[in-house]
Amino acid sequence: MLGRLNHVALAVPDLAAAVVAYRNTLGAEVTEPQALPEHGVTVVFVNVGNTKIELLEPLGEGSPIAAFLEKNPSGGMHHLCYEVDDILAARDQLKAAGARVLGDGNPKTGAHGKPVLFLHPKDFFGTLIELEQS
Ligand code: CO
Repeated sequence: MLGRLNHVALAVPDLAAAVVAYRNTLGAEVTEPQALPEHGVTVVFVNVGNTKIELLEPLGEGSPIAAFLEKNPSGGMHHLCYEVDDILAARDQLKAAGARVLGDGNPKTGAHGKPVLFLHPKDFFGTLIELEQS
């Protein structure tokens, strides 16, 4: 079921500062910020050849990463995103195996314009997993 690692996501308290650090200090190629109100985040991607790093900053009230940043005020790793060929088949297979899909269980459109789902971190050893249809 599981395909490539699409990205590693880091929650950051200050996206502009994170962009400067990745672009200037680390010398990486960074995309322009993209607001995703449906997900409650603003996102940029750092291209690193074999995968991407997604930098997330809270957007609006009740952002799903606000509580994470309260616990981790300087930021930290928020989730891993794996590609799957068929997100609905993957969801049904995971649910049948007892894994919990977050939200209403229906895919939302992610930062790449493709359907995504999130799996409960307690079912995967403390790591939030995003699945993106490839
Ligand atoms: Co992501």
